[in-house]
Amino acid sequence: MITTDRLILRGWRDADLAPWIALNADPLVMRHFPAVQTPEESEAMMARSQAHIDQHGFVLWAVERREDGAFLGFTGLALLKEANPLFPGVEAGWRLAAHAWGRGYASEAASAALADGFDRLGLERIVAFTAVDNLPSQAVMTRIGMTRRADLDFDHPALPRGHRLERHVVWESLAPGKSPAAL
Ligand SMILES: CC(C)(COP(=O)(O)OP(=O)(O)OC[C@H]1O[C@@H](n2cnc3c(N)ncnc32)[C@H](O)[C@@H]1OP(=O)(O)O)[C@@H](O)C(=O)NCCC(=O)NCCS
Repeated sequence: MITTDRLILRGWRDADLAPWIALNADPLVMRHFPAVQTPEESEAMMARSQAHIDQHGFVLWAVERREDGAFLGFTGLALLKEANPLFPGVEAGWRLAAHAWGRGYASEAASAALADGFDRLGLERIVAFTAVDNLPSQAVMTRIGMTRRADLDFDHPALPRGHRLERHVVWESLAPGKSPAAL
């Protein structure tokens, strides 16, 4: 669990499921993804997230607002899948309900998740990537001090060739004191 000024990043709870399903069914939230998620897909992703915490000690954490306990979405870290061109490594990610946008929550949560990755987990490098058109996500990457790595941009292997979301742009953060040459 990680606590920030306004947020708690924590493991997933059963009560998160209903707002999580609603969030993933919102076409606005999912406009930079191939499709909205069905309730079954959301439930499966939640179960995978909890399993990831149990196995690795970190995850795309459930994000809760401290002032009222509201579930806002996820922000955190995840192991890259083998098919990803950046594999092996750890990626940062975020997805919040639309009602929680525009208040700095994603950047606050992401900064804390990166610090946890470097300080507690001892990671040397964290990457983040998103579709070319997903400017709000790229703004989070900039805001939290990640560095653009255009040389690592890739076509997402899970998408068919020519798909509108195929091209992905990459950002990275290195642990304090690490230079790219040292990795
Ligand atoms: C990506 C996503 C999390 C970004 O959300 P966001 O609200 O734009 O980002 P933040 O939470 O960091 O908030 C930043 C905004 O809050 C404003 N803000 C208000 N109060 C603030 C505060 N106290 N601190 C910082 N920023 C604050 C900032 O000025 C900024 O506004 P702007 O976008 O008009 O410049 C959101 O768009 C989302 O969930 N999208 C759908 C899922 C998605 O695409 N995920 C990424 C896939 S790779």
